[in-house]
Amino acid sequence: MIKMIWDHVIKNGYIYNGTDFIKGNLYINDGKIAAISENELEGEAKKTTDANEKYVLPGFIDTHVHSRDPGATYKEDFYYSTQAAAAGGVTTVFEMPNTNPPINNVENLYKQKDNLTPKAHVDFGIWGICLGDLNRNEILPLHEAGVIGFKFFWGYAINSETFQLAYNYKDGDEGVIPPLPDGEVYDIFKEVEKTGQILAIHAENNEIIQRLTKQVEDSGRRDYEALLEGRPNLAEEMTIQSGIAMAKKLGTRLHILHVSTGEGVKLVRQSQAEGYPITSETCPHFLFLSNEDYEKVGPQMKVYPPVKYKKDQDELWRGIQDGTVSIVCSDHAPHTEEEKDGDLWSIPAGMCGVETLAPLLLNAVSEGKITLKQVCDLLSENPAKQYGIYPNKGSLAVGTDADITIVDMNAEMIIKRENLHSKSKVTAFDQFPVKGVPAATIVRGVTVMEEGQIVSEPIGQMIKPIK
Ligand code: DOR
Ligand code: ZN
Repeated sequence: MIKMIWDHVIKNGYIYNGTDFIKGNLYINDGKIAAISENELEGEAKKTTDANEKYVLPGFIDTHVHSRDPGATYKEDFYYSTQAAAAGGVTTVFEMPNTNPPINNVENLYKQKDNLTPKAHVDFGIWGICLGDLNRNEILPLHEAGVIGFKFFWGYAINSETFQLAYNYKDGDEGVIPPLPDGEVYDIFKEVEKTGQILAIHAENNEIIQRLTKQVEDSGRRDYEALLEGRPNLAEEMTIQSGIAMAKKLGTRLHILHVSTGEGVKLVRQSQAEGYPITSETCPHFLFLSNEDYEKVGPQMKVYPPVKYKKDQDELWRGIQDGTVSIVCSDHAPHTEEEKDGDLWSIPAGMCGVETLAPLLLNAVSEGKITLKQVCDLLSENPAKQYGIYPNKGSLAVGTDADITIVDMNAEMIIKRENLHSKSKVTAFDQFPVKGVPAATIVRGVTVMEEGQIVSEPIGQMIKPIK
């Protein structure tokens, strides 16, 4: 009889099978999950890991990451951001398309694949960007070429040469293409619908923000409450409302990025109840912070859309409990320490997040806010299903990619900025204590992180949705 040889056996874990956690062993061969068994299987293991009653979960997916690569690699790059991902238990990231050049056509998509692959410590999908009439004809080719979805920064002006987002655009600024009129947005919805892929929107109404921000600025106020008065809940609500109306009319698979308001959750819930395929995500900063934390955390927590009020946080948690919000992702958007070290008004929006996403959610399990199964849904199964990469990603089914996150629910850690693997150390969660820590990250059978250390060269590959 031929003796079975296993590449890697993970013993004595609580293995997630999509429903329950089964005490047993998981066997890996050729980068795939070869078997899961409550009993020990015959054969020899090249590598054995004693999970010692830790949890063995489908690898986590962070669907919203800005690695700034290429274009602003002084802030972050893919070599660093994917080490941060692996350190945080993330086996796949979806890279956002507001790079320079942006991912606005197939040529730039292929260049981006070649740029990211040698730096990738984890697998990755690449978003395509919607620039309205400027690249409407590129949407179908980008779909054919394998983008993970389409992103539209609704309400943003863009630099007319580089197509970069103009963060603090004011009416009349030169060198920019102003935010698109609704008719052009409608055609984006129409074009993306033809692909059957997700259209993900940044939802903030530019006209409301411009006018109300000017009013608070003119009054001389520069405090956090003033920022929120200038970028009110209404700004998010109005854009989500328009997006839902267009998606209902056209059948587009609309996804609302980083929902920050209770109003947003309610609109998504209602459209889902009516039977429309509209989905939403939120981020740890909206779940674990509110305006009340600004005094303690300071300008580091500035992000767009901004962190709102306690009542919004509560509704976001309700959205998670009832499934309205099906994905939690980081919106990892680093800026340098120097860039973030200024007054609230002038500093850029965004912070690190890919490394703290899973620890913060695991800590929520320890606190009884959600279950570990919900974490598997929010970070693995739901994103994989939504973006067409399930069950190869997002499950531990036999025959699929051995993307695995082992978590130690007894381990305690204090999140410290200096320990982050990103180039930038800007986080709103410095000194935040967590219970529940990723102990190992395995990507297609390769152990990339063990006990917090990155132990592999870049082995990540680009993934495409299954057509
Ligand atoms: O805070 C943010 N930062 N919000 C965005 O929409 C973009 C992001 C970035 O790329 O800096
Ligand atoms: Zn983002």
